[in-house]
Amino acid sequence: MLSKNMEEALNKQINREYFSAYLYLAMSAYFESANMKGFAKWMRLQAKEEQTHALKFYDYVIARGGKMNLLAIEAPKAKWTSAAKVFEEVYAHEQKVTGMINALVELAMKEKDHATFETLQWFVKEQVEEEEHASEILGKIRTIGDIPGHLFCLDHELGKRE
Ligand SMILES: [Fe+2]
Ligand SMILES: [Fe+2]
Repeated sequence: MLSKNMEEALNKQINREYFSAYLYLAMSAYFESANMKGFAKWMRLQAKEEQTHALKFYDYVIARGGKMNLLAIEAPKAKWTSAAKVFEEVYAHEQKVTGMINALVELAMKEKDHATFETLQWFVKEQVEEEEHASEILGKIRTIGDIPGHLFCLDHELGKRE
């Protein structure tokens, strides 16, 4: 059985994962409008990945006999001015999410909820990768920033994501 506190916290996290999906879908649409098809594809897959995160939490809450309380998803913004700005935001957002996952881990520890603690370890590791990927791409954009044509190469590279 999940505690009421934990049930509420996990429900909130489901909502945040869907917000991440929504944010990345909005970024994908921005890249589509900027004719950067590779970036758009990468972001769309990222949005899909966030939905699987949400469903992982969803399945866990159900498995523990918790109640689902699906909350309204906040609308993301729709405009950015450059790929660098987008990835600065992705990196900052993922760091924020890491903080949320850490807070859930701390709650699980406080409540001596071992099953939730164990489930959260997957997310702890996932956030290391999420931050790494975001900062790696941001680093590449910054390196090639002023060289015309090189962003096109990166667009091609990101478009290879499966
Ligand atoms: Fe996520
Ligand atoms: Fe993420």
